[in-house]
Amino acid sequence: MRIAMLGAGYVGLVSGACFAEFGVEVCLVDTDAAKIAGLREGRIPIYEPGLDRLVEDNAREGRLRFTTDLAGAMAGAEAVFLAVGTPSRRGDGHADLSYVFAAAEQVARAATGPLVLVTKSTVPVGTGRQVRDIVREARPDLAVEVASNPEFLREGSAIGDFMRPDRVVIGTEAGPGGERALAVLRRLYRPLYLFETPIVATSIETAELIKYAANAFLAMKVTFINEMADLCERVGADVHDVARGMGLDGRIGSKFLHPGPGYGGSCFPKDTLALARTAEDAGSPLRLVETTVAANEARKATMAERVVAAMGGSVAGKTIAVLGLTFKPETDDMRDAPSLSVLPPLAAAGATIRAFDPSGMDYARQLLPASVEYAASALEAAEGADALVLLTEWNAFRALSPARLRAAMRGDVLLDFRNVYDPEAMRAEGFRYHSIGRP
Ligand SMILES: NC(=O)c1ccc[n+]([C@@H]2O[C@H](COP(=O)([O-])OP(=O)(O)OC[C@H]3O[C@@H](n4cnc5c(N)ncnc54)[C@H](O)[C@@H]3O)[C@@H](O)[C@H]2O)c1
Repeated sequence: MRIAMLGAGYVGLVSGACFAEFGVEVCLVDTDAAKIAGLREGRIPIYEPGLDRLVEDNAREGRLRFTTDLAGAMAGAEAVFLAVGTPSRRGDGHADLSYVFAAAEQVARAATGPLVLVTKSTVPVGTGRQVRDIVREARPDLAVEVASNPEFLREGSAIGDFMRPDRVVIGTEAGPGGERALAVLRRLYRPLYLFETPIVATSIETAELIKYAANAFLAMKVTFINEMADLCERVGADVHDVARGMGLDGRIGSKFLHPGPGYGGSCFPKDTLALARTAEDAGSPLRLVETTVAANEARKATMAERVVAAMGGSVAGKTIAVLGLTFKPETDDMRDAPSLSVLPPLAAAGATIRAFDPSGMDYARQLLPASVEYAASALEAAEGADALVLLTEWNAFRALSPARLRAAMRGDVLLDFRNVYDPEAMRAEGFRYHSIGRP
């Protein structure tokens, strides 16, 4: 079986490599010629654990190819996937569908025979129908079936998530054409039958909405525990015990109940916003999602204020060491990372920021103020610092010796925005230790 995948980003590259691992012949297409040239030479454009090996193995076996030539990639392909970006549209928060629509049109023009066109990008409900109209208008002569196959992988554990997902969602149109598309997609995902992975086969609109509903629910759960953490601080309770006591209830579940500086990343912020806009337009507003978006934005802004307060009301002339810049560990992805909200106001207030992140610093340099300095290690960042802020819970930071950190620093303020350290141990080491939602 042969497929083409448009977009060699976080989703396209992982999905393409994993399908190749399933035994499918995959041709990855990207408009970014430098990215494709790099991939051909074995350079992986993103950091994702295990991806380099998977790409290398499948490229060597000839199952995974990279090109900018769409027509060539589509030759003999039974399905063409769209895994291009759908960022927030500037100004109004709707999903920017220009990449999806452009890609759909390019596919239609390049097609030489019947085809299944699958949207893997996260797109608002109704987009599948628009994609179908674009393709039919460009190529009324062709039999093209559209389908929706949203992706649920998490950066940092993307390969495991793709290979052993909780479910696969497939949306198709009613009628024989839709059934053909569903059959092609079922065949592609056949190796997952080994794990008895449920396939949720549904309409395109429902599939599109499932993806947003899932992301919005998870974002809401994170925001819920973050607000609960703030309440815990006021009333002397411990948010970790609250989360454990809640999470052990099977109806609630323990995941996504870890307090922090507010959710970030390439999906939750833009997807919650886009869903709220879709609902508003449909005349069926989602107040919980709207509130989640607002509460999370406000939270990220208050994190810098926490740093200022911990330093006695001013950071001017102070050196702040920052551990972790990416939106979560095990990725280099900086999109909407909390660091982008926390660090600029501190730099603007006159602090010298010295940051270290195991894999996000190249990306961070493009997004953070030019005055931010970058260290080669956590200890180097801490050297002579007045305060230390832990923003991303990389495992390497859990393993740091508190005594060595404390000895390297000039000051004694430690703000642990991910609650990775033990408050007692940190206080015993002489830190003025602040965490989230703990007494
Ligand atoms: N990143 C995640 O964890 C994640 C998880 C699930 C779903 N998604 C969704 O998947 C989609 C892709 O996200 P991403 O993070 O992989 O984006 P990305 O920005 O990393 O990658 C998108 C790629 O598409 C390429 N591209 C754009 N137009 C193209 C075209 N016409 N033809 C070929 N390539 C083209 C870009 O050059 C880029 O390399 C988004 O809709 C996102 O919401 C992302």
